[in-house]
Amino acid sequence: MCGIVGYIGTQAATEILLAGLEKLEYRGYDSAGIATIWEGEVNCIRAKGKLHNLRSKLELVESPSQIGIGHTRWATHGKPEERNAHPHMDATLRIAVVQNGIIENYRELREELKAKGYVFRSDTDTEVIPHLIAESLKNLPSPTLATSPSPFFEAVRQVVGKLQGAFAIAVLSADFPDELIAIRQQAPLVIGFGQGEFFCASDTPAIVSYTRAVLPLDNGEMARLTPLGVEVYDFAGIRLKKQPRLLNLSPTMVEKQGFKHFMLKEIYEQPGVVRASLDAYFKADWTAANAEGSPVNLNIDGEIFSDLEQIQIVACGTSWHAALVGKYLLEQLAGIPTQVQYASEFRYAPSPITANTLTIGVTQSGETADTLAALAMEKERRQGKEAKYQVRLLGITNRPESSLGHMVPRIINTLAGIEIGVAATKTFIAQLMAFYALAVDLAYRQKTVTPEKLEYIINGLRQIPKEIEATLESQEKLTELLAHDFAETTDFIFLGRGINFPIALEGALKLKEISYIHAEGYPAGEMKHGPIALLDAKVPVVAIAVPGSVYEKVISNSQEAKARDSRLIGVTPIEDGEAAEIFNDLLPIANVDELLSPILTVIPLQLLAYHIAARRGLDVDQPRNLAKSVTVE
Ligand code: F6R
Repeated sequence: MCGIVGYIGTQAATEILLAGLEKLEYRGYDSAGIATIWEGEVNCIRAKGKLHNLRSKLELVESPSQIGIGHTRWATHGKPEERNAHPHMDATLRIAVVQNGIIENYRELREELKAKGYVFRSDTDTEVIPHLIAESLKNLPSPTLATSPSPFFEAVRQVVGKLQGAFAIAVLSADFPDELIAIRQQAPLVIGFGQGEFFCASDTPAIVSYTRAVLPLDNGEMARLTPLGVEVYDFAGIRLKKQPRLLNLSPTMVEKQGFKHFMLKEIYEQPGVVRASLDAYFKADWTAANAEGSPVNLNIDGEIFSDLEQIQIVACGTSWHAALVGKYLLEQLAGIPTQVQYASEFRYAPSPITANTLTIGVTQSGETADTLAALAMEKERRQGKEAKYQVRLLGITNRPESSLGHMVPRIINTLAGIEIGVAATKTFIAQLMAFYALAVDLAYRQKTVTPEKLEYIINGLRQIPKEIEATLESQEKLTELLAHDFAETTDFIFLGRGINFPIALEGALKLKEISYIHAEGYPAGEMKHGPIALLDAKVPVVAIAVPGSVYEKVISNSQEAKARDSRLIGVTPIEDGEAAEIFNDLLPIANVDELLSPILTVIPLQLLAYHIAARRGLDVDQPRNLAKSVTVE
């Protein structure tokens, strides 16, 4: 949540900062601001609302400054108003600070500063930082420590030692116009290396148009950027030797490429995501007849999987839905009892573990505060116990360089590529693929399923990319037409059972988060225990009815909804017989094995949500009140 960017070099900073913030807007868009240094002064411009408001303001300001910091905000402390927008400055307006995260002890720091006469202009936690730096500069011994590269760096370093919480910060000062200081403590920050120009940013898309040589800072590190280069230090002021690496991301990957919205582009990228996952996770030459070793290659040493008795998965939002599909697969294929917990709940009431319990954290961003905190807690409670406890931690993430990647040594990388739309689509499909691979691998290890059945599943998965392509082709128009009818609808119900119950939840989440229509997902059999009272002609019901263990049941549950006058939309491969009679509208999908169906059934639901939101004229990629990385609890 919140995006920060910084630049020092030979070009005009303003446009580079704005372009960077545009790529970080997915992290929050309540307000935006930049600070540059020009003619010995800090020039700080901020605006409430989205970045275009800041852009309009900046058109009136000419500043060829070659150093600057910028921020796009998701409000935590203080309302989304201009006075709470970053950058925040000290009393003399010489120091400017942007921050992503939370300074947990800001109240006491604020009181201490107030007692010394400092006056606060905002309600934010961040404003303590520029005041503290000003205070620290005032009290710095002269000459400064010989080991410190500059008085400004030293003053910032001393302040960082006083801050508690999870944060990434960038700071500049008009009195030190050739220095930009960037700090990371449990919130992401990457340094970019160009030709005579250097960058810092919350995420790589902000800088990939300028450089692909990057260095993600680790927790407890701070970087000093000057026109001559970048020096990295730990919080004790010890210089560290660090090398940038080359980023596997091109500027076009973070463009819309002709699609109206990133979300639509990302929905269309899903066949490619499944293909990439199949290539990476499943051995091409494995067959049941030649079943030497597991068909899956996850690059994880088998130690964490031996004698498994239980799996617990922690996640939030869409990742939690992927985990529910994972639970179904792990239990039904590998026979391992699996619990799925909301990370925010698990943290405060963790289930008991045994030495043979594997805990998996699922987070596409790798930065979700609740999931990270749950895993940190899990790591801690396993410490001091026998080795078996300690190794059984696994992360599933789309950003292996994230905080999760730093925290958990064993990771399954999901292969969605960067996702910009705030609503998760292709990262969900990528998480499902990770769970299919894990479940097949464990089923092989536990010998719960015959090699022939595993081969059947893998062959089925290999057909999925072209089935998604066909679904996209057939559903684009259908869902657009339905969206026309439902643009004014206020409530929706999604029904699924078994492995498709999580897809009902996901369909409802997609719809509510981008269209602001109230939507609920239910296991179809639960309707009659209360929720059916909600139904009437104004409440459409989307039912996922896939042949297999629960098809007849879902059809009966749909009948019950129909009897209450609901308009029924069926996501099903069966287009005739009873299905044709019951459903008012059909969103047909290919007839694949029930076990594989979630990868297909979710596609029409993503498209339906997209088209309804677009029809309502809403900001699909940046829905209100949301941010892509939820880095606060
Ligand atoms: C929904 C959505 C959110 C995220 C949730 C967890 O479309 O994007 O519900 O799934 O905030 O995010 P990660 O997976 O980054 O931990």
